[in-house]
Amino acid sequence: MRIGILNSGGDCPGLNAVIHGVVGAATKLGWEVVGFRDGFEGMLPPGDYMMLDAAKTVGIMKLGGTILGTTNKGHFVAKIGEGNVSEVPREIVEKAKTTLKHLEVGALIVVGGDGSLTTGLQLYQMGIPVIGVPKTIDNDIQATAMSFGFDSAVATVVDGLDRLHTTAESHKRVIVLEVMGRHAGWIALYGGMAGGADIILLPEIPFSLEKVAQAVRNRDAQGHHSTLIVVAEGARLESGDLVKKEAVGNAGEDRLGGIGEYVAKQVEKLTGKETRSCTLGHLQRGGAPTSLDRILGVRFGVHAVKLIKDGKFGRMVSYQQYHVGDVPIEEAVNQLRLVTNDSEIVGAARSIGVSFGD
Ligand code: F6P
Repeated sequence: MRIGILNSGGDCPGLNAVIHGVVGAATKLGWEVVGFRDGFEGMLPPGDYMMLDAAKTVGIMKLGGTILGTTNKGHFVAKIGEGNVSEVPREIVEKAKTTLKHLEVGALIVVGGDGSLTTGLQLYQMGIPVIGVPKTIDNDIQATAMSFGFDSAVATVVDGLDRLHTTAESHKRVIVLEVMGRHAGWIALYGGMAGGADIILLPEIPFSLEKVAQAVRNRDAQGHHSTLIVVAEGARLESGDLVKKEAVGNAGEDRLGGIGEYVAKQVEKLTGKETRSCTLGHLQRGGAPTSLDRILGVRFGVHAVKLIKDGKFGRMVSYQQYHVGDVPIEEAVNQLRLVTNDSEIVGAARSIGVSFGD
């Protein structure tokens, strides 16, 4: 048996751990593993790939990024932005099938986020035996409680906030930290809570600048002269407006970013307090995965191989209640998993005095 694996979409700490898990479990079964380079593009004839064996994957678990390379552009894009699904052209799928046949690859593991899993589902529906593995730092994939990469991104946010605390306190300033997450607020919420942010602004809870300013004034009145604000890149004002860079991102998708600076300027204007902003950007995606993400990645890879062994195609590996299992890929790609205002975690944050600007 020979199986294929590819990573698609943005890179994410823990991708190499998945590869390590897949190669380890497949090797034990006497199978060979073909790693396609640069996402689905690697399947275009004549095929851009490397044979993966235990020797090639020794020590990769601790590395960030992916040894296979990845892309969020190309011929196989099936989803743009929040919900526009298009079909991968049939002739492109046929080309991929030709490569798989030529290389005698009997099953394909697609490690990707919402968009890449949508492509994976289409390939499965067009006859390729696909297994999905969820990958996202944003933690916004439905049908899995968590994906590898999220914990590492949160750890970077917490490290950033720990550093910003001391400088904000020394200067009695407001500092706004903009973090990733696209249309989901998980990184901002977890990072903000663990890093002791005073105000957390999320896409799911529209905020008012006046209420943010009031929260800063209240803190001042209580003798806390510095304030840390975490804002998710996709956070929305009460008007529903997002701050975007030009539509020059993945396949014409809007590139988010800039809300941190916007919030900082407005808060300074409204409160008269000296305010600074800082954007963490791709620091959240790079670097070594946390131990949690390494373990999750390896377990996901091992389970993907098990699904192939059991002939359960069209399914995505899923983490639920401390257990790695699987669900139909359809269940994961229909909508994003978002923070809800009435959730226990948002309630807990409010209980310790965090303001969401609402
Ligand atoms: O989905 C992961 C993510 O890092 C988002 O949080 C962010 O908006 C986006 O990818 C950035 O993508 P790019 O690789 O195009 O900069």
